[in-house]
Amino acid sequence: MTQQPSGALQNEPRGVLVVAIDGPSGSGKGTIAHRLAAALGFHILDSGALYRLIGLAACNHQVDLADEAALAKIAAELDVHFIPTEDPQEPLQIVLEGQHVTRLIRTDDAGTNASQVAKFTAVRDALIQRQRDFAQAPGLIADGRDMGTVVFPDAALKIYLTASAEARAQRRYKQLKDKGMGVSLHALFLSIQARDEQDMNRLVAPLKPAADALIIDSTEMSLEEVFDTVLAAAQARLG
Ligand code: DC
Repeated sequence: MTQQPSGALQNEPRGVLVVAIDGPSGSGKGTIAHRLAAALGFHILDSGALYRLIGLAACNHQVDLADEAALAKIAAELDVHFIPTEDPQEPLQIVLEGQHVTRLIRTDDAGTNASQVAKFTAVRDALIQRQRDFAQAPGLIADGRDMGTVVFPDAALKIYLTASAEARAQRRYKQLKDKGMGVSLHALFLSIQARDEQDMNRLVAPLKPAADALIIDSTEMSLEEVFDTVLAAAQARLG
């Protein structure tokens, strides 16, 4: 029997299947992750929401987004609850320090702030075990940037979902408009490019496909085609 070295973080409890879905902003990971979780009856981890919440909590408490130590403290003490709903448009209600922030953290500015706080090693370290604790039976769909490379390196299946920056900006534009949020397509395109640059080139846990990830470029694919591809891969891998 192998034993976990003392003090080591356990990244996947025995018997719990993890599907890691990573990719850049607007690649459709979130939608695919929720649909896959519903199809398989698995739990879901929206790790981007954690970074968005840290950015929001920092703004609420007037903490500088460049202050790594203060941000890490916020990350370690984050008082957040994820409450599942029956609404496919908003499958999780998010409550931060007693305040409903489900929509507040979805703005483009909240994404930019999240990318800023996510650069810091101390912030990422403070979130590792919290993310691993989401791995509960029968399984977990983990959506993010470093799910397959850092947080769940032993995941049963790793997907890297991408698309051109133009296609992702178009999709994000539609998504935000459908939620009643006013945005400019060009501004979104520039913001997506800036976020790619920051997320892919940071020193710690940069966005990249795991060596054993199935890479799906969805630029020319419909959501249904992407979902069918991912579901088939999950069924083949998970049995
Ligand atoms: O997936 P999202 O757009 O909600 O993520 C917002 C930002 O959070 C993203 O630009 C980078 C950061 N992030 C990260 O660094 N690692 C993750 N696992 C998830 C998100």
